[in-house]
Amino acid sequence: MNKDLFLIKGLGGKKKLNGTIPVFGAKNAALKAMAASILFKDDVKYENIPFISDIEMMSEILSDLGAEIEKTGKYSMNINSEKAKKTELDRNLSKRMRASVVLTGPILARFGEVSFPHPGGCVIGERPIDMFLEGFKKMGAEVSEAGEKYYIKAKDGKLKGAEIFFKMQSVTNTETFILAGVLAEGKTVLKNCALEPEISNLAEFLIECGAKIKGVSTATIEIEGTGGKLLESKGKVFKTIPDRIEAGSFLILATLAGDNIEITNCEPKHLEILIDTLRRSGVKIDVEKNSIKVSNNGKVKNSSLTATNIKTHEYPGFPTDLQAPMAVYLTQVSGESVIFETIFEGRLNYINDLARMGADVKVWDSHQAMIKGPTELKGKELDGPDLRAGLAYILAAIIAKGNSVINNVHFVDRGYEKIEERLQKIGVEIERVAN
Ligand code: EPZ
Repeated sequence: MNKDLFLIKGLGGKKKLNGTIPVFGAKNAALKAMAASILFKDDVKYENIPFISDIEMMSEILSDLGAEIEKTGKYSMNINSEKAKKTELDRNLSKRMRASVVLTGPILARFGEVSFPHPGGCVIGERPIDMFLEGFKKMGAEVSEAGEKYYIKAKDGKLKGAEIFFKMQSVTNTETFILAGVLAEGKTVLKNCALEPEISNLAEFLIECGAKIKGVSTATIEIEGTGGKLLESKGKVFKTIPDRIEAGSFLILATLAGDNIEITNCEPKHLEILIDTLRRSGVKIDVEKNSIKVSNNGKVKNSSLTATNIKTHEYPGFPTDLQAPMAVYLTQVSGESVIFETIFEGRLNYINDLARMGADVKVWDSHQAMIKGPTELKGKELDGPDLRAGLAYILAAIIAKGNSVINNVHFVDRGYEKIEERLQKIGVEIERVAN
């Protein structure tokens, strides 16, 4: 883990960023597709992979399991998991990344057993795994716990298809049980599935490679398992969708501090809620097939934009991962906005730092806060608390008056590749200092 920090010279409310900023592949799609390599007997080829620290960590976990990973280009890699045979997830690595839990589905389905620690990741709430354990039991597995580890064993070494109703829509549960269902014996029916595009990206690739999955992008997904027979990709390529959270954060930045900014290599269809919310608040946005433009924005006063309430929701609702960047936006527009974070209980922790920078905020409870704008933000030294809030701090520092220091850049590095280089290209004065 690096101890780098960012030094950022604030624009003090001036809107002078210009140029194009590209969006890279979605971390939360790439990680799950890498986990899916366990289902394959041949090489899986990946494109549009962001080379960030979470991808490195997933590569390390897979290598430890016995997979062979080869970086084949700037944004591409191959994974061959045919020789993987270890069924125990490395404790230290898995505790550092929530997405590691997705590996439990394919490992259990292929080898009949898996053991793992409670998965880690960003501290944004309790992040339980009860729904994973319940689902595996439904598929005929026995679950035990010892020495801070979970041990799951399928009866007779084979997972059985089952009907699983998720009590809450969960991204990683939906993905894990799609992967488990693909190799299980018989039919698995998943109900109340999450609808995030990263899930469809994964499922559509599996279908291309022969998996029998129906109902992708709907709340009920049916999988006809192969009964243990591994999939073959036969050269097909997993193309990672663009990161909608990165694109959305750049759009918020373009609105607040840009004159003419074009966000390229993105999928605007995955950002409808943000685009709609910003337009209702008064922002002029041009949407093209794979790009979003905010043009001639330098003369638009942020204070002429209006406050808007935000309630986070599963896709296609407002993403919890854009809640913190949006809060920065709300400090600059006129009026009172309420933020209601419905998914995670620890995801408003960053807001006191915005208050230290000068924002007018009232935190009502762990899920709700009110922001009154517009207020001038002042540069400060900030400790990024997690990946998405870390990026929100960068946005806040860019629009603030004076200089800021953002510590804990390693959180930002988990999800955003070379963020400072891309920001510098549109005119942001940001510098990484190795510490
Ligand atoms: C995924 O987390 C993402 N992570 C998160 O992105 C994202 O914030 C979140 O989905 C919501 O969109 C990955 O894809 C690796 P959930 P996930 O299961 O799957 C509760 C980032 O910064 N729940 O959809 O862990 C849970 O507490 C990260 O990239 C249970 O109760 O989230 C939450 O309230 C942060 N029991 C709700 O479900 C369980 O067994 C939805 O969470 C599992 C989850």
